[in-house]
Amino acid sequence: MSRILLKGGRLLCPASGLDETGDLLIQDQSIAQLGGEIQAEDARVIPCAGLVVAPGLIDLHVHLRQPGHEYKETIASGSAAAAAGGFTAVCCMPNTDPVNDSRAVTDFILETAAKEAAARVYPVGAITMGLKGEALTEMAELREAGCVAVSDDGRPVADSRLMRRALEYAASFDLPVICHSEDLKLAAGGHMHEGPTATRLGLGGIPAQAEVLAIERDLALAGLSGAQVHIAHVSCAGSVEAVKRAKSQGVRCTAETAPHYLTLCDQDVGDYDTHFKMNPPLRSAADRQAVRQGLIQGVIDVVATDHAPHSILEKQVEFDQAAFGVVGLETALGVMLQLVEQGELDLAGLIRRMSAIPAQILGLAGGKLNPGGPADVTVLAPELAWKVEPEAFRSLSRNTPFAGWELPGRALATICGGRITHLLEK
Ligand code: DOR
Ligand code: ZN
Repeated sequence: MSRILLKGGRLLCPASGLDETGDLLIQDQSIAQLGGEIQAEDARVIPCAGLVVAPGLIDLHVHLRQPGHEYKETIASGSAAAAAGGFTAVCCMPNTDPVNDSRAVTDFILETAAKEAAARVYPVGAITMGLKGEALTEMAELREAGCVAVSDDGRPVADSRLMRRALEYAASFDLPVICHSEDLKLAAGGHMHEGPTATRLGLGGIPAQAEVLAIERDLALAGLSGAQVHIAHVSCAGSVEAVKRAKSQGVRCTAETAPHYLTLCDQDVGDYDTHFKMNPPLRSAADRQAVRQGLIQGVIDVVATDHAPHSILEKQVEFDQAAFGVVGLETALGVMLQLVEQGELDLAGLIRRMSAIPAQILGLAGGKLNPGGPADVTVLAPELAWKVEPEAFRSLSRNTPFAGWELPGRALATICGGRITHLLEK
C-alpha cells in the first residue's frame, strides 16, 4: 500500500465548490480522504502550506507525434511534459503516421502509454481514413478500442456532405466530434493572420473568415445531426460570436481556445519568428480581446494547449516553409496564471476550465477532488515565479513563443493515479 499525504494546502475543487485549507490523503490510486487534519504515519508527506491542491489538469488537445514522428515527441516525452505542466490527462490527436484511423493504432497508443506515459493518454481517432476527407473511419471500432472522440485535426473535413454523415454516425453512439474548422480554399497560401502585419512582412494571409465560415458550417451540421461537437482552437472574435449564437439556439457544442490566442497577436510574429506560426494563426489584438471575453463569459468552455511539437528542422527555415504549431504543455498553466494575476479570471475559474469542464466534455475520469475518486491531483504554486527556458523542457521540441517569459507560477507537483509524475525540487 502506498500513501501520500498532501499537508496543509488550499484544497480547491471548483466542481464541488470546495475551497478550504486542509490535508488530502492518497492511498494507492485513489483519494482516500480530504479536508481537515489527517493523520497517516506511514504516508509520504508533501508539505503544501501556501500551495493550492487542485484536480489534475486535463488537456483536450495535444499532438504526441507517436507513431511516426518520434524525433518531435513521443508518448513518453509528451506525457512527461504534460506532468511537468501540471496535467494528469491529455487527449492526443490522430495526425500521426500512420494516422490513428484504426483499432491497431489506438491499441498501440494505449499499450505504449500504459508502459511509458506519465499522464493518462486518451486517443482521439480520425474522422476519415488517413485524414484524407474521403471515407469515414470505423468509428464504433475506434470507440471500442478506447478513442474518446474523433477528429481530423490538422485538417478540416472539407466535404460538407461527408461531414454531415460523420456527425450522424458519431451521434448514433454519442461519440463527440472535435472540429478543426477551416475553409482550406479561403486559407490557401496563407502563413499568418491576414492583416497589416502580414502585408508589411509580405506574407500570404489567412483571413479570420476562413475559420468563422467553417465553424458556422460545423455548427449548422451539428444542429442538423444532433451530434456533440467540440470546436478546437478558437482564435478570433467571429468564431466566439458563432459559438455563442449556436449555444443560444440549443446546438450541442463546446469550444476551446489556447493560451497563445489569449496572450499574443499577429504583431508578435515580429521579424518572421516561426515560433509564432501556428494554425489557426495569431489574430489581431481585437480578436485576442474577444477570445478572452469569450473565455471569461463561458462561451469558450475550456483552455487546451494544442501542443504541437516540431523540431528545428521544421522551424529554423523561411517563415513560409515552416511548420504550423507551437508546444504548450509546459507553459500553459504559467501563462494562464498571468491572466489570474491580471484579474481576468479567478483561480477557481481557471482550474475549472482546465480540469472539471474538460473532463465533463469528453466524459473523462478526474476533474474533481472526491474521496474514492482517482488520485489525479496538481499542487500549484501560484506565486512561484519562473522563467521559461526551452532547453529545460521535457518535451523533445522547443518551439515555444514564450521563451524568456517570466511567469507567475507553476505546478509544484503532479500526481496521476496516485503516482508522483512531477515534483519540483524547491
Ligand atoms: O498549428 C497547428 N499544428 N495546427 C494544427 O491544426 C495541427 C498542428 C500540428 O499537428 O502540428
Ligand atoms: Zn487543429
